[in-house]
Amino acid sequence: MNKFAKHLINWYKHNGRKLPWRETRDPYTIWVSEIILQQTRISQGTAYFHRFIERYPNVSELASADEHDVLKLWQGLGYYSRARNMLAAAKQVMNLFEGQFPRTYKGLLQLRGVGEYTAGAIASIAYNLPHAAVDGNALRVLSRFYAIDTPISSTKGKKLFSQLATEMVPKEAPGMFNQAIMDFGAMQCTPRSPDCPSCSLADMCLAYIKNRVQNYPVKEKKAKVRDRYMHYLFIRYKDDRLWLEKRNGQDIWKNMYQLPLIESYEILLPEQVLRSKEWQTIFYNAQVEVRSVSNEIIHMLSHRKIHAFFYEIQLIKGEVQHPAKPVYLKDIFNFAIPKLIENYLTEKIQITQSV
Ligand code: ADE
Repeated sequence: MNKFAKHLINWYKHNGRKLPWRETRDPYTIWVSEIILQQTRISQGTAYFHRFIERYPNVSELASADEHDVLKLWQGLGYYSRARNMLAAAKQVMNLFEGQFPRTYKGLLQLRGVGEYTAGAIASIAYNLPHAAVDGNALRVLSRFYAIDTPISSTKGKKLFSQLATEMVPKEAPGMFNQAIMDFGAMQCTPRSPDCPSCSLADMCLAYIKNRVQNYPVKEKKAKVRDRYMHYLFIRYKDDRLWLEKRNGQDIWKNMYQLPLIESYEILLPEQVLRSKEWQTIFYNAQVEVRSVSNEIIHMLSHRKIHAFFYEIQLIKGEVQHPAKPVYLKDIFNFAIPKLIENYLTEKIQITQSV
């Protein structure tokens, strides 16, 4: 075994975290944990992991689930395409792999939403196959240990780090190595304040030797975040209902529910919202009164900055046009709703019910 792997595994045996998905070698359970942890911290993801496994204990239970129920369980975790892809992948396992999780790296890669990282993680942890699983923690550790100046997310960088990690994976303990590098990155070789003086790898770490730990990993310039302006319409119907619509199209929050929306790529004044084509379409010949407009609420997604405004509207006559439909207030939270809207509704409905 190479020296790096030996030190790392030794560190892991003393310091590795005890995590619920480490108690099993079941590929389904490991897959669920890896998908959740792709874009979610362990502290937040663990509760979702337990709920998910309890609700869908195996791949056949998940495959026969309703998409809306899966999205509902996922609510608040973000990156909802993960949940949709999991459902699609579970169906693939049932239909193409006779209900058995694929047993090879290549087979795993065929599943929806499973890329090189996830395939490597499942193959190494569940099957002990010698594949790397390079997440952000592993990139940081490797880039520091070897003082690699190639940006981690460049095409060249991705190839380089993947090759390097694959060379480092010891045949004796691939799953342990991959989890060790992740824990080491999360606990010891942390982004901002790595504890180098106490680190057992420091005397081999090129970044440390050069006194350049903070310069790694090297990142490319950030993609510009795009601003989007969401004007949500909070419209009650007969005291006990609220108009909701389903999002569709290839976009964020696909297939989730929301308040009727007027969206723009520039800021709009309330007068402009009221004169917009979308407003005319939503209300057609209904008669309405705008009661209030909220302050701007900023909601950050990975490449988008959402500027949300909530319009409280009283419907005097007529109805809101299709595709919105009235939903009973008591049922609202059974719908999969983006966190941004859920926060607003929670506050709004509490206030209106206590009046
Ligand atoms: N992050 C993603 N997968 C992980 C795992 N198996 N252990 C620790 N951190 C992780």
